Order: sequence, then C-alpha cells, then structure tokens
Amino acid sequence: MTYTFARSMELFSRAAKVIPQGIPGHLTPVFTVPGSYPYFCSHAKGSRFVDVDGNEYIDYMCAYGPMILGYANEKVDEAYRVQAARGNCLSLANGLSVELAELIVDTVDCADWVMFAKNGADATSMAVMLARGYTGRDIVVLAEGGYHGTQSWAGTNHVGVTARDRADIVMVPWGDPDALRRVVGRHKGSVAGVMLTPYHHPVFEDQRLPDPGFWPEVRRICDEHGIVLILDDVRAGWRLDMKGSGHFFGIRPDLACYSKAMANGYPISALVGVERLRITASKAYFAGSFWCNAPEMAAAIACIEEMKRIDAPRIVSELGAKLTNGLAERARANGLEVVISGPPAIPFMRFASEKNFLRSQLFCGECAKRGVFFHPHHNWFVSAAHTEADIERTLEVADVCFGIVKDRFGS
Ligand SMILES: Cc1ncc(COP(=O)(O)O)c(C=O)c1O
Repeated sequence: MTYTFARSMELFSRAAKVIPQGIPGHLTPVFTVPGSYPYFCSHAKGSRFVDVDGNEYIDYMCAYGPMILGYANEKVDEAYRVQAARGNCLSLANGLSVELAELIVDTVDCADWVMFAKNGADATSMAVMLARGYTGRDIVVLAEGGYHGTQSWAGTNHVGVTARDRADIVMVPWGDPDALRRVVGRHKGSVAGVMLTPYHHPVFEDQRLPDPGFWPEVRRICDEHGIVLILDDVRAGWRLDMKGSGHFFGIRPDLACYSKAMANGYPISALVGVERLRITASKAYFAGSFWCNAPEMAAAIACIEEMKRIDAPRIVSELGAKLTNGLAERARANGLEVVISGPPAIPFMRFASEKNFLRSQLFCGECAKRGVFFHPHHNWFVSAAHTEADIERTLEVADVCFGIVKDRFGS
C-alpha cells in the first residue's frame, strides 16, 4: 500500500486561490513529482513528520536544514517555552543575547563578535554591507550556482530583480582560484568582498568539496587585495564542525553567516566576524522588529549546547555515511549506479546514467509514497535524531524503489 494525498490536494486547491503558487516559497517537491508527495505537513517529532493525510515520513530534508536535533526536541522547545512565558518581543535587547553571543564566540573559531538577525539572508546581506562599509568599495564576488538567499543582490534571473540590483555583483565558478584571481585583477581596487559557501552545494548538480589548495589560495588573494572573505555557512554550519565549516576546511574567514541549524528550527541567524571588522560592524545600521526576540535566543543557546554535548557533527556524519553507503549498495544490487556527493551529513544523490533527473524524480517520488522523504534535485540533510532503525527502514524502501527505477528505465 502506498500513500495517497486527498487532504493535501483539497487544501492545495483552496490555497491556490489565496496564496500565489499555493504554497509560500519552495517548500515542496510535489511540483516536480506530481502525485507522489504531500503538499502540507501536520506535525513532526524526532526524525519524522506526518502530513495532513496522516502519512508518516522519515525526513531527510530536515526542514531544508534547520532541524538538526530532531523535530520537537524537548530541551530546545522547553528553553523556548520558558522564555516565551517570560517575554518575547520587548523594548530592549534581552540579557540572553549576551549569553548567546558569548557562547558563539566560544564555539566558532572565527567569531570575535556576533550580530543577530532572523533569516540566513539577513546575515548574508549584513555581511555584504559590512564588506562594503569596511573597504569603501562596491563589488562583491559570488560563485555561479551558489545560493545566499532571495534578496535582489543575491538572486539571478528572478522576477523583479533588475540589472541594477546586480550591478556590483561579479560571478566566478566555485572552486577555481585562478578565475577568482582574474576577476579580482580585472576589478583591481574595487572588490569589497568574496562570499562563498564552504563547499559548493548547488541544486541539480554534484556537490563539490574544496581541493586542498583552494581555500588557502582564496585567503591569499583576499589578503593581497584587502578583500573581506565571507563564508556563507548558513546551510552547512554546525553539521560539519561545531567550530564552523571554516575550521572543518582549514580556512579562517573574516565574516561568517549562520542560521539554519542554530536553534533547531526557531528563526534566528548570526553574522560573526573577526576583530578588525568590529568597528565597522558597530557603526553599521542593521535592525529588524523581531531581531531581538528573546525566545529564539534561548532556543539557540539550548540547541548549541546540546549539539556540543552530543557532538552532533560526528553523529550526523556517521549516520550520513551509513545512509549513503547503503544507498550505493542497494542501487548496485538492483543493477543501477548512483553518484553520491557532498559531505555524508548533507548528501546529494543522482543516477550516473542520466542528466535529466527522471530517474531521481521517480525514485524519490516512490520513496515518498512509502514513507521516506528525499528531494530529487536538492541536497538532503541528516539529523542527530535519525536512528540506525530509520536508516535500515530507509534502505528497505530504497531497495524497492531502485527496483521500480530499474523496471522503468533499464539502467
Ligand atoms: C548557503 C545559504 N545561504 C543563505 C541562505 C538563505 O537563508 P534563509 O532562507 O534563512 O534566508 C540559504 C538558505 O537555504 C543557504 O542555503
């Protein structure tokens, strides 16, 4: 018996009348695999969520990254609840902001100071402003296929983003220090910042880990030209290393951006920086009505302490290795070859014999109908709440679904 989605579809037909596109943002793969995915969730606990039809899923999207300790984690939720009862959105910053900043400075190796916001995009936008403020220059270099949020400076070819919005953005291929050196040379004296993710995690493509010489060369180029090096660690942050993904790959950025895993799903982000940017940061004008909300700060403290206590990066890496090794094995046993890329905790899988993702869509859709939630085009996330039993069940489902792919496509 596979899942059906009658209630999801009924809600979607109502949503389409009152919400453009029916669903805010991109939070469903149903648009690429119609009929195989739910449109709406109901509730979640640990590694699993339940959709509005009552179907349960082992979730490898983890809310696209924020869920690291498991849905409805008791320690984090309790910390949130206690502070929410004491005060939420207040007229002054809460004392917890100091405690949280101290914790992050003690945890992340490139953090001499911290500024808080809500979304990852707030942190990346603050980083761009600081790089420009510090250097007095305009140009920011980004990597092709990278993602830093949907704000207009970061978007490509999106509705309403004009050429002027992007006038001071220059793109380079990720992982190519020669290309970076050429671009910096071409815009000599005008580049304020280089913003890169710690490894390349584009959609629809294999994930790329840095070659050993990449980060030292990027650091050298930035130092030679007085450029601020910004690490966008919003997606990978605290899934690879509690000291930050910069530490994991041996790079010390000038600024680094955190959000997703910071409070296990409560909305908060942080821009951290090194000493020499402190004065610029103290002069910059960043604020938001909800940026000082205290319960999210309490949740972030509980989440970071818990991630450190259990060594979450080690757990997700080991579970991710079990999952990805198991998937490769089951694919082979079914006469198929898959390519798995990225860190095991944040893996991406595609079928070696195709570029059009039809096999991935069929595989992931069939898995969803059997209670395993993968995305066909986007990297997945493993959490510390996934269990060995979850992985075993996932591999049983994957076995069946690889068989379906083999029957439909042959290889
Ligand atoms: C690397 C990276 N940077 C920035 C962002 C933007 O974060 P948010 O969606 O919280 O604004 C994301 C979100 O997926 C991301 O993956």
